[in-house]
Amino acid sequence: MKTEYSYSEGGFVMENKHFKLITIEISGACNAHCPFCVTGRGDIKAGKMMSLDLFKKTIYRLKELDLVAKDCDFYLFNWGEPFLNPELNEILEFCADENLHICLSTNASTYKKLSKKAIKPISNFIVSMPGFSQTAYDKIHGFDFEKIIEQFTKDFKKYSTPQKIQLRQHIYQWNLDDIAKTAKYACTLGADFYPYYAYVANYEMFKKYKLGQLDKQTEHEINTNIFTYYLHNYIDDPKFECYEFDMLILDESANVVSCCNMAKNNEKFVLFNIFDDNAPDRMPERINMEECKTCLALGMAQIPYNIGTVPQWADNIKAYINQNSKTNFHKILHRLCHKK
Ligand SMILES: C[S@@+](CC[C@H](N)C(=O)[O-])C[C@H]1O[C@@H](n2cnc3c(N)ncnc32)[C@H](O)[C@@H]1O
Ligand code: SF4
Ligand code: SF4
Repeated sequence: MKTEYSYSEGGFVMENKHFKLITIEISGACNAHCPFCVTGRGDIKAGKMMSLDLFKKTIYRLKELDLVAKDCDFYLFNWGEPFLNPELNEILEFCADENLHICLSTNASTYKKLSKKAIKPISNFIVSMPGFSQTAYDKIHGFDFEKIIEQFTKDFKKYSTPQKIQLRQHIYQWNLDDIAKTAKYACTLGADFYPYYAYVANYEMFKKYKLGQLDKQTEHEINTNIFTYYLHNYIDDPKFECYEFDMLILDESANVVSCCNMAKNNEKFVLFNIFDDNAPDRMPERINMEECKTCLALGMAQIPYNIGTVPQWADNIKAYINQNSKTNFHKILHRLCHKK
């Protein structure tokens, strides 16, 4: 079931409130230094970890408010690194009890010991990669590339099942040669391969960039790292349906958040708390924000539709690898998460 909305003179109208995609930030912090992510850039103070207790209460509350579609996917990350949450195992075990479908995305720098039960509800596991070299990791994550690769390579080769681990290489101006290397690595492992363009994952920074209001140094940083041509090439339509309108996003304190791309230090970031008495009445605020009008007019909401539009040759490699990939997702995760 899709969250339905329509467009009228006054803006979007929400017609039913079952979300197919709910994001819950279980970690308000990250250990990486990605310069085009609000967290990595250090623009915001590290937040707290969502406790198991609050996570459970939040799921019960979402169900009580009848906000969860039957086949809903839960993304347990927004601006943080989920593996930093010390209760990740317990949170996932609870997800298994509740039959939730979970997606995790990680910078792959650290693992928690996860039980078989905890691994079970994970239906999508994304590994974010800034390229396939120490230079790439120095520029973006700030991690030891060899260590990251070593951790994976040991266990990934042996298994097979339909479920996939996705290696997502972000494409920058300087890592085109890495695409083939990451692809080959994915192929060796039997993992899926998803190259896509890096963008400015920060509403305010992107807005200033588009309006020509950024300081020269930051503008230069964007112009020399990100492929900027597609940031200017978008569908100009005020009725454009932002994919975020179908999502419900909660931060680590169970606040309903205005937009995935908005930084926590933006005063518009938090709309209300999911436990507020009037939370059900306030849900439509989520899709009628003033910011959305600016965002749509500047073509910012449209960008996520473009980032996967990689060059044909990269798309061909992706299609070939994903057709042939066979990973035993659960066994691999089990082994990775039992490492010391
Ligand atoms: C902010 S991250 C948080 C989760 C985790 N720390 C990670 O990096 O995978 C959420 C998602 O944004 C993606 N992402 C991060 N920086 C990006 C960028 N500059 N351009 C496009 N996607 C980006 C990541 O691949 C990840 O799937
Ligand atoms: S993109 Fe992910 S890994 Fe990089 S700083 Fe942001 S939250 Fe951390
Ligand atoms: S239109 Fe822009 S500000 Fe509004 S939810 Fe979508 S991405 Fe966020």
